Amino acid sequence: MNFAVIGLQWGDEGKGKIIDILSVEADVIVRYQGGNNAGHTVVKDSVRYAFHLIPSGVLHEDKVCVMGNGMVIDPLALLHELDELRSQGLDVSPRQLKISENAHIIFPYHRKLDGFRERLRSNRIGTTGRGIGPCYMDKYARSGIRVGDLLNPKLFISKLKDNIIEKNGIYRQVFGYDGFSEEEIAREYLGYAEKITPFVCDTVSLLHELWREGRSILFEGAQGTMLDVDFGTYPFVTSSNASVSGIFSGTGLPPKALDKVIGVCKAYTTRVGEGPFPTELFDDLGNRLRDKGGEFGTTTGRPRRCGWFDAVLVRYAVRLNGVDEIVITKLDVLDELDEIKVCVGYRLGDEVLKTYPFDIEVFSNVEPIYETFKGWKTDTTALRDISDLPREARDYIDAISDLVGAKISMVSVGSDREEIIRI
Ligand code: IMP
Repeated sequence: MNFAVIGLQWGDEGKGKIIDILSVEADVIVRYQGGNNAGHTVVKDSVRYAFHLIPSGVLHEDKVCVMGNGMVIDPLALLHELDELRSQGLDVSPRQLKISENAHIIFPYHRKLDGFRERLRSNRIGTTGRGIGPCYMDKYARSGIRVGDLLNPKLFISKLKDNIIEKNGIYRQVFGYDGFSEEEIAREYLGYAEKITPFVCDTVSLLHELWREGRSILFEGAQGTMLDVDFGTYPFVTSSNASVSGIFSGTGLPPKALDKVIGVCKAYTTRVGEGPFPTELFDDLGNRLRDKGGEFGTTTGRPRRCGWFDAVLVRYAVRLNGVDEIVITKLDVLDELDEIKVCVGYRLGDEVLKTYPFDIEVFSNVEPIYETFKGWKTDTTALRDISDLPREARDYIDAISDLVGAKISMVSVGSDREEIIRI
């Protein structure tokens, strides 16, 4: 059975822990989009491992982990991550980690442009500054450089030359910067090539072989549906298809290779970066959720914006991804609250909206319509069976399931692997 784990909000839903749990059932773990804008930590045997690019499946020695063609890879960040893991006693081998030769490479001029554009925009996106958007820009402009190019120095240098001429010319005119040196970047990146080469392969053929052999594949989504470049809160999104739709273009496997979609959402909502967020809490309650939930970005350390669960958004994400079942994370963060609200619709003037409006102007101006639930005021972290949960917590979970239109298969009540209730 092949399954996908997809975020149903604005990322940071706690997919890392769920992927780690579900990895046990998979032989192959594949990432299909994004780059080191993502980040999650997994705690194993009391050691905290941080992942940004590499699928966390590498923690299981017998799994094949694939970084698919839909990803954008910063080699410096990749080597840093490999070094960090090695220093923690985890030596990731080329037998275990496979990097697509068709994935695109992030260069210093991508990171620079990310910063320049953010500074000049009147509507900042609040990107992670990792050069993700500019790298995807080059991919679609057909001037990108791919991992496979790095293995052919002559071809690599000619492609790099074209890019440097273009970037220095444009950046000089627009930003007063033309400091990229072809020689320096070539030297730096060909140095990385040596270290990365053993991991590089034709992941499309590899994945087809593994699929044909009947191995179980887990597609690891990064970010979340509302950050999807096509279906999210554009332009306040990332530059890839973080929803289920990115899987096929980002791996080369066909839709029929996907048997099941597991959506992950928090019991409340968070968002990093700019953009509309109707249920955001600006008062002390927002701060309490942030503190109790440890809501600070794994990648940038930025405090996350916090708010109530938005059932309208999650229902939209459930439909869009064809979600079969959902996992609710961080229920325990709500343990101490007297009452808990869920957004069940939006008000726009005299109008009531029951579905997510694609028009960002409309979405920026809606007021949430809430249903209020009684808090359970009980520590849930030690509970492992749904029947042990206080009635109010079960009511809350059942209401979410009804409102978003999907059954719930797991509820996470803490950061440890064991702190989970299977339903
Ligand atoms: P970019 O992906 O760095 O271009 O950032 C675009 C938007 O996506 C910003 O609002 C980021 O904060 C957000 N973003 C990117 N990656 C993640 C993630 O892994 N979790 C949460 N937000 C993210």
